[in-house]
Amino acid sequence: MGIYLDSAVISEIKEFIELPFVEGVTTNPTLIAKALGRDTITWAEFEAHIKQIGELVDGDIFVQTNHKDAKGMVEDGKKIHAVLGTKAVIKIPATSEGLKAISELADNDIRTAATAVFTGVQAYLAMLSGADFVIPYYSRVQKAANDGLDLVEDILDIIESQEMESQLLVASIKNNFDVLEIIRAGAHAITIPADIIKELLAHHQTEDAQAAFNKSLTVKG
Ligand code: G3P
Repeated sequence: MGIYLDSAVISEIKEFIELPFVEGVTTNPTLIAKALGRDTITWAEFEAHIKQIGELVDGDIFVQTNHKDAKGMVEDGKKIHAVLGTKAVIKIPATSEGLKAISELADNDIRTAATAVFTGVQAYLAMLSGADFVIPYYSRVQKAANDGLDLVEDILDIIESQEMESQLLVASIKNNFDVLEIIRAGAHAITIPADIIKELLAHHQTEDAQAAFNKSLTVKG
């Protein structure tokens, strides 16, 4: 399973990309604006920021388009690809215009991810349109009183039964219990915010055990 860091904060990316299991980074325009301490940013600032991420990350970098129409999304996607090269995966909301853009970028050999997916059929249509990844928003589904895990399982069933090659990447993770469920369900990938990765790695019993073992070592260095 691929594990990604869901962040656009440069200091977090520097820290967490060092972890051997973190394969890359996922961002969205809101995360990038927030990382810059702003509500809105210009395209030049956006581009400069993703360039900086590209200097830190060797793996996949998911970056979202900013237009609502297919033509604009394709242009955004090509510009992002020009900055990040083959590391770029262009995130495009799974709207009807988004699916047209996904198809055109796929024809240009640019990888895409259909994002903000809320139903299994939406995911399937995005896969048929050529999306390399489909990204359901787990916690937002839960918030809408639906079951995020059911959605993950539906999408996995569709990938298998329809023999699709797209990967399921689960996003919008708000607590560490969801991570276990998503791993057990067999999702191909998950993107996790830095604070949740920290929680997943922290266990006081592990720390206590290490402290006790270290006490037994009389010769240091
Ligand atoms: O990339 C952000 C995506 O994971 C959505 O997360 O927290 O805005 O629901 P959130």
